Amino acid sequence: MKKLYVKTYGCQMNAYDSAKMADLLAPLGYAATDAPEGADMVILNTCHIRERAAEKVYSELGRLKKLKRGKSDMLVAVAGCVAQAEGEEIIARAPVVDMVVGPQSYHRLPEMIARAARAEGRSIETDFPALEKFDMLAAPRGSGVSAFLTVQEGCDKFCTFCVVPYTRGAEHSRPPQAILAEARQLVDKGAREIVLLGQNVNAYEGDGWGLAKLCEALARIDGLARIRYTTSHPRDMGDDLIAAHGDNPKLMPYLHLPVQSGSDSVLDAMNRQHRADDYRRLIDRIRAARPDIAMTSDFIVGFPGESDADFEATLKLVRDIGYASAFSFKYSKRPGTPASTLRKQIAEDVKTARLDALQKLLLAQQYAFDDSRIGKVMPVLFEKPARDAGQLMGRTPYLQPVHVVADTVLIGTVADVKIERRTANSLHGVLV
Ligand code: SAH
Ligand code: SF4
Ligand code: F3S
Repeated sequence: MKKLYVKTYGCQMNAYDSAKMADLLAPLGYAATDAPEGADMVILNTCHIRERAAEKVYSELGRLKKLKRGKSDMLVAVAGCVAQAEGEEIIARAPVVDMVVGPQSYHRLPEMIARAARAEGRSIETDFPALEKFDMLAAPRGSGVSAFLTVQEGCDKFCTFCVVPYTRGAEHSRPPQAILAEARQLVDKGAREIVLLGQNVNAYEGDGWGLAKLCEALARIDGLARIRYTTSHPRDMGDDLIAAHGDNPKLMPYLHLPVQSGSDSVLDAMNRQHRADDYRRLIDRIRAARPDIAMTSDFIVGFPGESDADFEATLKLVRDIGYASAFSFKYSKRPGTPASTLRKQIAEDVKTARLDALQKLLLAQQYAFDDSRIGKVMPVLFEKPARDAGQLMGRTPYLQPVHVVADTVLIGTVADVKIERRTANSLHGVLV
């Protein structure tokens, strides 16, 4: 057996791709290992979304260079979005790298490994043959209780700050039958929850099916208890999908719907193609369909030109909506994106102050939401043993981690738990 170490950065889609790469290389004799030391092959599955994410790759490559001195036959591959964006530069800057493979071409890894074995030099594969990739990938070999399933890739939205349309290519949806087949395989391997993934997953459009219809078909799979999807764009939240949140009991009442900013002029400069009030009205309609739904979002502070008043509008929107949790980031200039050349870039200390203020508000909302569950009974899907002996970790419909004293036979089942208290990042409760 050869050892394969895969390190994953970035979004859930990269996590899905990492699992697929491991599945793909298993027939070649590679078994997963959890450290780079002694590995025969290392894959860095990288993220390009913010500057800091991309920098991590080069520092990791520095460490791998030292390891390779002791093990010269170790293969090093850079995959993912940095590979796509900076493939040639990686090859030039980092001699330790044997191969560079983009997110749409990693099904070619076996060929690339064969080429490396024949000492045919270093290779780069960064085409976008999206249509063939999924057909070439192996069936899942195993599955956790909660499994990712990519249903849609790429993005045609071109928000002015974002690299994804360049690193992942054009929007492309997989056919529903292929998705249903993969979902059944995952459930056979033990999945009880499936998280449908796409950069614009609510824009899913496969053979005339939208996401609502796909979720309806998935809900008919016996043994599948929960369906989630991420990430959605406010512009693509169709009436049928909103209605599905009221009608489809397996669809969890927890929706990640990034808004980025509460200011109309910033939204316009970001090319988000909606106003803050459109988003408010959309949330009203979603809450009308499913009153107990909880919302999450992503925010960017310090987008070029963002004034104090613009930032106040973001805080106002957060107060108006009330989030169960959210991610927030300082704007990061990305090469090749339209916003990176805007003149009114925001000073770092201003970005820091705004991020602090926003995160303080969001965290207070998160704690308030979590605390509002104390004393309530919630269905918890148990995923794995918790760190404390005798306890399991499971999740509520709102993705909150819950620690409960329970037998391991409950892993993969949903049981009612009375929530008793909250610690910083989790809830604690007892089986009822
Ligand atoms: N498709 C998703 C977002 C994918 S990227 C959507 O449209 O919502 C995940 C998040 O990273 C984004 O929602 C945004 O908040 C953040 N992000 C993207 N580009 C960024 C940049 N240049 N600087 C800071 N944050 C960024
Ligand atoms: Fe990036 Fe916008 Fe596409 Fe999301 S919708 S991936 S933020 S370009
Ligand atoms: Fe990062 Fe690429 Fe995902 S840039 S966020 S890994 S799509």
